[in-house]
Amino acid sequence: MLKHFTFDSVILGGGGAGLTTAIQLSQEGQDVAVISKVFPTRSHTVAAQGGIAAALANVSDDKWLWHMYDTVKGSDYLGDQDAIEYMCKNAAEAIYELEHMGMPFDRNDDGRIYQRPFGGMTKNFGESSISRTCAVADRTGHAMLHTLYQKNIELKTKFFVEWVGLDLIRDNDGAVLGIVALELKSGDLAIFHAKNTIFATGGAGRIFQASTNAYINTGDGLGMAARANIALEDMEFWQFHPTGILDVGVLITEAVRGEGGYLVNSNNERFMSKYAPNAKDLASRDVISRAIATEVKEGRGIGENKDGVYLTLSHLGESLINEKLPGIRETAIKFANVDPVNDPIPVVPTVHYMMGGIPTNLDGQVRDTANNSIIDGFYAVGECACVSVHGANRLGSNSLLDLVVFGRAAGLNIIKNSNNKKHKPLPKDAAEFTLSRLNKIEINTDGENPKEVGDELRKIMQDYCGVFRFPELLKKGLKEIQAVRIKTNNLQIKDKSKVFNTARTEALELTNLIEVAEATINAAFARKESRGAHSRFDYPKRDDHNWLKHSIYNPKEKNMSFRPVNLKPLTVESFPLMDRVY
Ligand code: FUM
Repeated sequence: MLKHFTFDSVILGGGGAGLTTAIQLSQEGQDVAVISKVFPTRSHTVAAQGGIAAALANVSDDKWLWHMYDTVKGSDYLGDQDAIEYMCKNAAEAIYELEHMGMPFDRNDDGRIYQRPFGGMTKNFGESSISRTCAVADRTGHAMLHTLYQKNIELKTKFFVEWVGLDLIRDNDGAVLGIVALELKSGDLAIFHAKNTIFATGGAGRIFQASTNAYINTGDGLGMAARANIALEDMEFWQFHPTGILDVGVLITEAVRGEGGYLVNSNNERFMSKYAPNAKDLASRDVISRAIATEVKEGRGIGENKDGVYLTLSHLGESLINEKLPGIRETAIKFANVDPVNDPIPVVPTVHYMMGGIPTNLDGQVRDTANNSIIDGFYAVGECACVSVHGANRLGSNSLLDLVVFGRAAGLNIIKNSNNKKHKPLPKDAAEFTLSRLNKIEINTDGENPKEVGDELRKIMQDYCGVFRFPELLKKGLKEIQAVRIKTNNLQIKDKSKVFNTARTEALELTNLIEVAEATINAAFARKESRGAHSRFDYPKRDDHNWLKHSIYNPKEKNMSFRPVNLKPLTVESFPLMDRVY
């Protein structure tokens, strides 16, 4: 049965970004639907454990301009400086807004919000590390989700929980008119018709085998955009978080190092001083992940396969660990079988975050890269978007900030443009494409098993597109991903039931994963330099002369185009290109 709903705005994704946009819209009286694959407070925003950055200066002097400098440098100069200025300048206001909504931040003795050091965050343009990351112990994302969800309940935002977005609806002019979605409980399809459609679908870390990402992170928004012929930007840049638990992938927050924890190799040596003499264990994530991979490659790894390093924090003492890091103590006991009060945690770099995504401007409006215009009625916010604030490498604790600053900006822009905006008429065949995709999976009798194809895809990405990238492996990966693509066009499910059919959901998610994987490996192959998280063995240096540009993957033609980085901030002077050392 095809249901039909009409709203002013439809937001796909119930994490921090979607909930923030929903608040902006609902409080202005819009009729807003948030559609979410899981209950909103279980969204992946929870994985930003350690905190949210803002130059509040609660611990020592701080300035948003220093935060901007750190973010530009952290991005390896690929972040657009207008977007970075906007985010850092608006950070403090975003934090106070959260505080006034009731977010239970930890406090200093004087009552002000507690802030801790985080990687790459510095005082006075790199002079020394600074406490800039506002925290709720090591459960900041979790606290943020509850705060934002409760505010939405107060504002009467409507939630469609356990619904999966399947396809965008566009008219002949390219305007976005809503989405087609599937209700997991009934197996029914529905058209959500809206004046504005906002994607807040999060990341896609499940294209890799080892990931800190939740199983829900299957790049649904990116897949839907790509199927609707919307380009994806900077997809070669994937962040490996230095401290996922070895062999398990579960995240151990950077807040451990912020509070004074450090990494050691099999010789019990604090190796980070070799790679980042000033910042050491608080260098940026790309630098630390490469350092760990190098230690392992050179035979100084720990564990049965000598493929990890240790994260030591026992010297912090039980009471600090219990107060500031209770979540990771529990996680380490459950998943690594070590109590960090006594023993170090075995860790390894693990895929954590996608710097690229659906291209947007500062207001969250999706850009049509083919003709440098805006796609009418379509916004993207949070990890699924590429407003290009993180460039080639994101600093830890800038992701929660991105969610709230740009989630809010999108909401403000929608309200500003809402006067006299009407629903555009739906095409007669609005759900036809989705119905035929579903039908094909449904009736196929000699197709591929989605679980097996998904495993193949994840293995290819893990083996051929990791921390270091080698030309012959990328080439092999490209070829093998093309073979996987053919299989994803011919999927079959044995279970045809309608109610909570997880096999069907897995097959549909796989059609999104393949779009993201194909974009990633094409972009990684195309970028012939090393910058931020993209480290090419055959091009080990950053090459500003040829590659100071964003990559655009065009899904229809499956080719790449490029656009220059915006080095011009909104009001301040540009930060000039420099060698990036920590
Ligand atoms: O390590 C962490 O707490 C993760 C934070 C982030 O990705 O921003």
